[in-house]
Amino acid sequence: MTTPVLQDQVALVTGASSGIGAAVAVALAAAGAKVGVNYARSSKGAEAVVDEIKTAGGEAIAIQADVSKEDQVLSMFEQIYQAYGTIDILVNNAGLQQDSSFTEMTLEQWNNVIDVNLTGQFLCAREAAKEFIRRGVVPQKSCSAGKIICMSSVHEVIPWAGHCNYAASKGGVMLLMKSMGQELASHKIRVNSIGPGAIKTPINQDAWNTPEAEADLLNLIPYNRVGVPMDIGKAAVWLASDQSEYVHGTTLFVDGGMTLYPGFATGG
Ligand code: BGC
Repeated sequence: MTTPVLQDQVALVTGASSGIGAAVAVALAAAGAKVGVNYARSSKGAEAVVDEIKTAGGEAIAIQADVSKEDQVLSMFEQIYQAYGTIDILVNNAGLQQDSSFTEMTLEQWNNVIDVNLTGQFLCAREAAKEFIRRGVVPQKSCSAGKIICMSSVHEVIPWAGHCNYAASKGGVMLLMKSMGQELASHKIRVNSIGPGAIKTPINQDAWNTPEAEADLLNLIPYNRVGVPMDIGKAAVWLASDQSEYVHGTTLFVDGGMTLYPGFATGG
C-alpha cells in the first residue's frame, strides 16, 4: 500500500463549511491530512464536513473564526496547535461576494469583501508562516517547511463589471501570494494560488441553477462543463503535496479554459 501523500500533515482550511472549502477539506483528509475545518457562521455545515471526514476514517475538527478579525484568527491557530501540535498546510479559502453596480456600491460592501477575501488571507498566512519558520522542515513529512494555498479566482486577471470589490480583492490576493512567495521561499515555504473558474457552489448558484443560466455560463467555458468543488479539491491536494515541490509563486487556474478569453474563438 502506498503512503497517502499528506500523511501526518496538519491542514487548516478556512471557509470550509460549504462549497470549495468543504471539498478541499475532504480531499486533504482523504490524502492523509488532519484537518481544521474553519467556519464563520455555519457550525452545522462544518460539523457535517467533520463527520464526512471521520466516517471515511480521517481526522478533523471544526473551528469557528471570522478570518477578518485578528483576535479570532489567533485563537483559531491556538486551537489547531492544541489539537494537532503544529500546522503544515494552510488553505486560505474563506471568501464572499457582495455584488453591486459600481456607482451603487456602498463602502460597507467594499469593506466586507476586502476584509474577508484579502485581509483574512493576510492574517491567516502570517500566522501559518510564523509556525512554519519556527518549526522548519520535517523531512519525514514533506520537503517544504509549509505550504500556503490562496484561493483566488479567474477574476485575479479577468475584470468583472458589477463585482469591482471582488475582482479587486482577488487581484490583491495575486500580488499578496507572489510577494509572500518571494519573501518566504528561503524558509522553504511554498506559496501558490488556485484560480477557480465557475464552480457549482452556493456563491454563484444564480449562474447555473436553471438550464438557461447554465447554457449562458457555458459560453464562457471552452471545456463546456461547469466545475464542481472536487475539481478544486484535487488540485489542492496536488499543490499541498511534494508532487508539486518545485511549483512556487504561481496561480493554477482550474477553470475549464475560462481564462482563454473564449470570445476570441470566433472574433478579434
Ligand atoms: C466567483 C463566481 C463566478 C466565477 C467565474 C468566481 O470567483 O466567485 O461567482 O461564477 O468566479 O466568473
